[in-house]
Amino acid sequence: MKKAIISLLVLGVSLLTMGTSAKEFDKDWHTYSNYQDIITTHVHLDLAINFKTKQIEGSIEHDLKRLNSDVDTLILDTRDLDIHKTETFDGKKWSATTFQLASRDSVKGSKLTISLPKSAIKVKVQYNSRPEASGLQWLLPVQTAGKKLPFMFSQSQAIHARSWLPIQDTPAMRVTYTATVTTDPSLRPIMAAKNDPKWRKDGRYTFEMPQAIPPYLIAIAAGNIHYKKMSKQTAIYSEPELLDAAANEFEDTQAMIEATEKMYGPYRWTDYDLLILPPSFPFGGMENPRLSFITPTVIAGDKSLVNLIAHELAHSWSGNLVTNATWRDLWINEGFTSYVENRIMEEVFGKKRAVMEQALAAQDLKKELVHLPKGDTILHVAIEGRDPDDAFSGVPYTKGQLFLMFLEERVGRENFDKFLRQYFDQHAFQSIDTDNFMRYLDKNLLAKFPSKVTKEEVRVWIKEPMLPSNAPNPQSDAFDNVGNNIQAWLSNDIKLAKIPTKTWSVHEWLYFINNLPKEISLQRLEQLDAEYKLTQSTNNEIAHAWLLLNIKKNNPNINKRLEDYMISIGRRKLIVPLYKALLEDKSRYDFVKGIYAKAREGYHPLAQGTIDALFEKAKQK
Ligand code: BES
Ligand code: ZN
Repeated sequence: MKKAIISLLVLGVSLLTMGTSAKEFDKDWHTYSNYQDIITTHVHLDLAINFKTKQIEGSIEHDLKRLNSDVDTLILDTRDLDIHKTETFDGKKWSATTFQLASRDSVKGSKLTISLPKSAIKVKVQYNSRPEASGLQWLLPVQTAGKKLPFMFSQSQAIHARSWLPIQDTPAMRVTYTATVTTDPSLRPIMAAKNDPKWRKDGRYTFEMPQAIPPYLIAIAAGNIHYKKMSKQTAIYSEPELLDAAANEFEDTQAMIEATEKMYGPYRWTDYDLLILPPSFPFGGMENPRLSFITPTVIAGDKSLVNLIAHELAHSWSGNLVTNATWRDLWINEGFTSYVENRIMEEVFGKKRAVMEQALAAQDLKKELVHLPKGDTILHVAIEGRDPDDAFSGVPYTKGQLFLMFLEERVGRENFDKFLRQYFDQHAFQSIDTDNFMRYLDKNLLAKFPSKVTKEEVRVWIKEPMLPSNAPNPQSDAFDNVGNNIQAWLSNDIKLAKIPTKTWSVHEWLYFINNLPKEISLQRLEQLDAEYKLTQSTNNEIAHAWLLLNIKKNNPNINKRLEDYMISIGRRKLIVPLYKALLEDKSRYDFVKGIYAKAREGYHPLAQGTIDALFEKAKQK
């Protein structure tokens, strides 16, 4: 009880100080909003999900807090919204007020300026989203597991909340919310908030999010969504066809929560449920609070890809509790989360697996760094003027993770754990930018261990491109074995049948495929496929690695499987590298164009945008 009161106090204090602390940060380039003068503290949503028109329609009510008493407008972010009416509330009555919707900027959308009388304490906007909303995907029944009912979901990170909510769309700011949502009674809406697992037959649901969150974490979905409880704090929401498989695959989620609490302090969001989406979901997962959104492509049957759940859960500390103040600081979300993810995997599945996952990620990063523009290999990346989606890479994730591993190595695990736990506690429900983090690190870690890490080493990690020479280089004995087997086979010392693949995990398979030499012959690839049936692998990561290698080697025998894969999956990480590799080779342009013609309408607007740009670039070559 005492603990609960203290954390409520901490919450209250951090909410109070939030507005002022926001001022110390660099202005978030990706918002038009005047959040440094006035902020929304709470929103109430009254929304209808209209599958016929592919629109969300209704109203949003903002409770306001002025940070500057002279402010006479509320500026909100929008993109492709129709604004019908704006009103203000003075404590007694609502009155109409004027607004201006500016023309559309291709990155930021349209600035919505609402006139604010001195007496206004709330603003209400009536609006609807459009079918092309960048943050929503509307699926036809054929794109779902059940094939009978439609489905929709939101993906607001990084700057897509504004395509379905007129809001101050910056992670420097936090709101609590309540919502009333209606939809067709045959479907069930759900939000990343307090959910009542009961299905209401009237199609009218209410939600409450009592913890203050940045707007990119507001999330909604609707479909034939059923419920299965897994443990005291965890449950699956999904189409009924996937419910059991998901509950089996993710049954260790409760153990993951407990392992994380032991290392980094209490889970502050009550329940942690998973919403399994259809395969067009453009990400592996999205850490929407209390209810992570998850791709079904990780349900492998053997828990081999559940690091994704560890990752999204880890965001309940790094990201959702302590948030990047701007999108330049994304590494503060994703780098810390990748580090915590791996610590959870070590606790729940053991060191061997955790090290394999580190080594695979480090290898992927090193390959990626060679191709990225130099500036994009910096943790504190410059993305002003750009769409944050265009700067997306493994850098904030794995370079960020390696940086924290470096600090851990230098000061020792026990000291580093203590530091991290205190960092989460002291910044709970707040945002932080890179320079503030560096000051905090300096005071709370470097000063305590002056002989272990220097300020200059930290600066190089955070502000300079590529990987510093002192970067950890994770070594897996299991992978060394795999590597030795590859060598022995290539030099004809052993036959494939002699390689002990029966005991290999998915990770060893991935290492095997990723470390075959570039110059491997087609004949050898065929031998591998004959022996191991890799083209038909039902593990989506293995299939991805194998297809990618075969595209690079121009092996036409995989084409049918490749087409099926690219049409049935919309997860960007799995398909974008395949499109990229195919487009490298001009002679395959028509082939890949043919696949995209069939696949495109099933992809999320974000994935469409990324792949459209690849085709555009290939045409110019
Ligand atoms: N928050 C991210 C997804 C994201 C990042 C969306 C930036 C938009 C902008 C999520 O937590 C994530 O990182 N997902 C990864 C998981 C993986 C690293 C285990 C993914 O989707 O692949
Ligand atoms: Zn993440």
